[in-house]
Amino acid sequence: MSDSSPGTMTRRALLVGVGAAGGAGAMYAAMGALGLAPDSQEKAFTPPQRSDFALRGRGAAKVVVLGAGVAGLTCAYELGKAGYDCTVLEASDRIGGRNLTLRGGDALRDLDGQVQTAGFEEGTYFNAGAGRIAPWMVTMDYCRELGVPVEVFVNNNAAAYVYTRGMPAPVRARTARADLYGYVSELLAKAAHAGALDRRLSAEDRERLLEFLRRFGDIGPDLAYRGSERRGYQVLPGLSEGLPLAGPSSLAEVLAAGTGRAVTVDFGFDQAMPMFQPVGGMDAIVTALARAVGEERIMTGTPVTGLRNLADGVEVTHRGGVVRADYCVAALPPHLLARLPHNLGAGVTAALRTPAPVAAGKIGLEYGRRWWELEDRIYGGVTETDLDITHIWYPSHDYHARSGLIVGYYNTEENAELYGSMSPRDRLRRALTQGKKIHGEKYRTGLRSSLSIAWHRHPHVEGGWVRWESHDGGLALLQRPAGRVYFAGDWLTHLVAWQAGAMESARKAVTELHRRVLAGPSS
Ligand code: ALA
Repeated sequence: MSDSSPGTMTRRALLVGVGAAGGAGAMYAAMGALGLAPDSQEKAFTPPQRSDFALRGRGAAKVVVLGAGVAGLTCAYELGKAGYDCTVLEASDRIGGRNLTLRGGDALRDLDGQVQTAGFEEGTYFNAGAGRIAPWMVTMDYCRELGVPVEVFVNNNAAAYVYTRGMPAPVRARTARADLYGYVSELLAKAAHAGALDRRLSAEDRERLLEFLRRFGDIGPDLAYRGSERRGYQVLPGLSEGLPLAGPSSLAEVLAAGTGRAVTVDFGFDQAMPMFQPVGGMDAIVTALARAVGEERIMTGTPVTGLRNLADGVEVTHRGGVVRADYCVAALPPHLLARLPHNLGAGVTAALRTPAPVAAGKIGLEYGRRWWELEDRIYGGVTETDLDITHIWYPSHDYHARSGLIVGYYNTEENAELYGSMSPRDRLRRALTQGKKIHGEKYRTGLRSSLSIAWHRHPHVEGGWVRWESHDGGLALLQRPAGRVYFAGDWLTHLVAWQAGAMESARKAVTELHRRVLAGPSS
């Protein structure tokens, strides 16, 4: 995955090495053979329900869950429904993992001990980690089940900008799209019309293609693209018919500008509109999960120091003592689990070391005035750029409020490493210098406060997500329990970097654990 792509990243890009094409099917088939999964995708996956559980009165079934991120909390929630006695150990002082919403007064400490305190005003929040949900994702089912209200997250906005180095000024996404679709249509239409595609197209196909391209590119009867009202206006239509933007530039100039990055934003299956976010902040999901689990079951500020399979259970040591349980679900990032002293075997350690953490960073910029709505008429959405800030996200909530927060960069890999290596003050300075190239001086002058996160420098997480360079047995190994220890996390699925991956993985671990418990003590 290239650094320029988190706003447009495809599932396949996130799944490097997971074997996206065959893996999920193979996993489902295997689960189906075991009776664990529907063999047809039409049937819904059913997590354990209270009524499934037959252990009540038959003895202990205690589960210790490592990590109160989305995977760990989902495990504890589902196991709790089925009557299990769960304890969740969380190293951090806060729950949620990469589902992290920061508000005024919140402190953020990085691996070096550097602390930032959010100076946001009442009502402002910054989703510093997970920020959007596709409607097909199981995350939406949990929002529904837990009563977490959701609202549309604008992932693609024609009024947002695209800016690439060398452009004299940014253009609106609609302008870039109109020009690219227009010129591509012209080229293809002219080639088809001249017979260059006759080996592929019948006469009838050609007419149908031309008919489509006229609409797609808004090209003229002579098949030339000369611009279109789709590009936008200098003077908006109203009482007058308005004045369209001058242009377009030549095909060569449009291609050289490299604005293609703006036209493919929601082509990916997991990025298509509509997308959603919880009202009031992404952490509404973890708050609701924790409430359902029972906050007294979640021990924060409790880093785990050791994990051992015993003959009849598991033993987890942590900074404050020891927890013994019948089973463990380890829902920590794999690179952190690999460092934990354990007796699960060298093969497990090697597998845990296989996925590599990927750097990712975001900065929240709070302004006292919503200039992007007032002046740019941008209501939500994402500006795309090849600058190292990569993306600017505008808020999809509280429109017309006085103040608001934009995400001034969301970058990964080298760009995230670059910003992560700087002090928060220098990150801010650089982000403002870059953003000013797109939005002008107001980008700097109107700022009220800011806060930035480098996920690879964030304690107890140490990565935005992971990349599997190879899964030669590693993924399959960790999808199975190691003795009485199960693993859960987005990193074990084909939805790496999505809360839905964490939830799907949790449901699989819990289902298998529950079946084993129901099957009796010998299993
Ligand atoms: N899930 C991540 C995002 O939305 C990759 O950008």
